[in-house]
Amino acid sequence: MSESIEDLRSLPRAEAYATIKRNADAILEGVTDEVAAMATIAALIHHSLGYLWTGFYRVVAPHLLQVGPYQGGLGCIDIQFGRGVCGTAAADRRTVIVEDVEKFPGHIACDARSRSEIVVPVINSSNELIAVLDIDSEAVGSFGQDDKAGLESIVHWFRAART
Ligand code: SME
Repeated sequence: MSESIEDLRSLPRAEAYATIKRNADAILEGVTDEVAAMATIAALIHHSLGYLWTGFYRVVAPHLLQVGPYQGGLGCIDIQFGRGVCGTAAADRRTVIVEDVEKFPGHIACDARSRSEIVVPVINSSNELIAVLDIDSEAVGSFGQDDKAGLESIVHWFRAART
């Protein structure tokens, strides 16, 4: 965990995400750069909740995701839309929750310890998909509807028009 980021693991998940969102919105006040925001949000989530891997894959070309700001072990670099959990969330523009990665056909294993995963699409003010937020956990079934709602509200930051 990080000394400068509060450990929120003992809170109900919805409350933890509401706290992370408040912190992110405060830290990112006046920030317009999306990569700076992604780095900050990844660090806040990762160190508040102690996941295995937390980060963004950015849309860098049509139908191509590339690793962006993240916390955790090395992530794979490129993921085509439609491939793995991230590529599925990107292609469908919807949040994908995988209770057990061993039962998800095509799951891309960047870290053999990963057992469950959630991937949330990140949309900008022009309604374009700019990235996905990927979180991996060492435990099966770590993610549910509270995680989906909480994370979707955090990445809502990218929906606002900033100049
Ligand atoms: N497991 C992901 C790939 C990214 S890494 O886990 C960091 C997937 O299947 O899309």
